[in-house]
Amino acid sequence: MTYINEDPESLLAALDRGESLPAHWYTDAAITAREIEKIFRKTWNYIGPAKELANRGDYITGYVGEVPVVVIRNESGLAGFVNVCRHRRHEVMKGRGNSKIMQCGYHAWTYDLAGCLKGAPRSAAEPNFKLADYPLLPLRVESLGPWVFVNLDAQAKSLTSYFGDLLKIVEGSGVHLESLELHNREEWNANANWKTMLENYLECYHCAVAHPGFSAAIDVKPENYDLTMHGWFASQLGDVRQSALEGKTSIKIYDVRGEVTQSQYHLLWPNITININPGFPNLSIDVWVPDGPNLAKGFSEQYFGPGVSENFAKDLIAFNKQVGHEDDVLTNSVQRGLIGGLPDRGRFLTNSEHLCIHFQRLVVQALAGDAVPLKQAAAATAVPISSKISVTPTPSMSAEREGNS
Ligand SMILES: [Fe+2]
Repeated sequence: MTYINEDPESLLAALDRGESLPAHWYTDAAITAREIEKIFRKTWNYIGPAKELANRGDYITGYVGEVPVVVIRNESGLAGFVNVCRHRRHEVMKGRGNSKIMQCGYHAWTYDLAGCLKGAPRSAAEPNFKLADYPLLPLRVESLGPWVFVNLDAQAKSLTSYFGDLLKIVEGSGVHLESLELHNREEWNANANWKTMLENYLECYHCAVAHPGFSAAIDVKPENYDLTMHGWFASQLGDVRQSALEGKTSIKIYDVRGEVTQSQYHLLWPNITININPGFPNLSIDVWVPDGPNLAKGFSEQYFGPGVSENFAKDLIAFNKQVGHEDDVLTNSVQRGLIGGLPDRGRFLTNSEHLCIHFQRLVVQALAGDAVPLKQAAAATAVPISSKISVTPTPSMSAEREGNS
């Protein structure tokens, strides 16, 4: 493994030339650990739909940068907590649902909906023990349209300052966010680094080659398919093909006719994607997280407008799964290439893969340390990235990497 020329400025300069990040950025457990610390624990993480948190006591659990979290509605509104008991650090709430209290299933320490510890069996006899000293740790919760996000970083800018402009674009598709209803939710696992998968998501250069059904439905010609970076989110917009509307496709696809005639594919930094396809109003939202350096995991929620037919729902879900399977085959292959480490750098086409380049820039900047301007970070020391961006792997992560590699 070499770290030559891996200071942030060199990496950013290489990206400007279309040279990708080095292969080990996709296989090194120390890089993944740094991403969890510097990216996932400092950004807005999607937790679930606001409609599932409408009533007092409604809650959803999830994870942010490996930290178990829970969002619950109490008298004051939505509240977020680290979903870990102050006693022995067992997870307090499970799954999702409605509850009058938050009670840990290990020793029955019991918190109210504001996260205050109200009961701990045998604690009355414990010297110097006050319930008030052990509330659940709070975290930030904010909403964007119909979606609820959390952030472990108390200093982070507001959710709407990141993604507020996205809502207008989404509404322009003909999908009305407030009317959407959750149809199904699935968890998934994949055999590639989370960045490998999202960089595949961020370009449609491969669509004509690898997605025959998708390319029959959507006009993927570069002059008609728009890729735009909006700072903290990236958008791809494509129109439905006339031949698809007329049912004249050489490959069987779902019925694309309906009030939505534009497809939209958005990435919200760092790891949330929102998809809209032509036809009956529909939207899916996916979350992609690292599961060690060479694996990813996440969940997918499929929404439809009211009154969707089961046939359309079934056909669109099958269409999305087919595209997802085709992408998995691609990204699994890329990950095998990255694990081998040769060639060390890839070469982007800057006119078709500029969203991938921007994504990699954000990764480099985040790992360089968001509190220090890049120029300062590079000038501070001439040592290679192994000591500036990479970190020493923990024993558990070293074991994981060996297992996955
Ligand atoms: Fe793809």
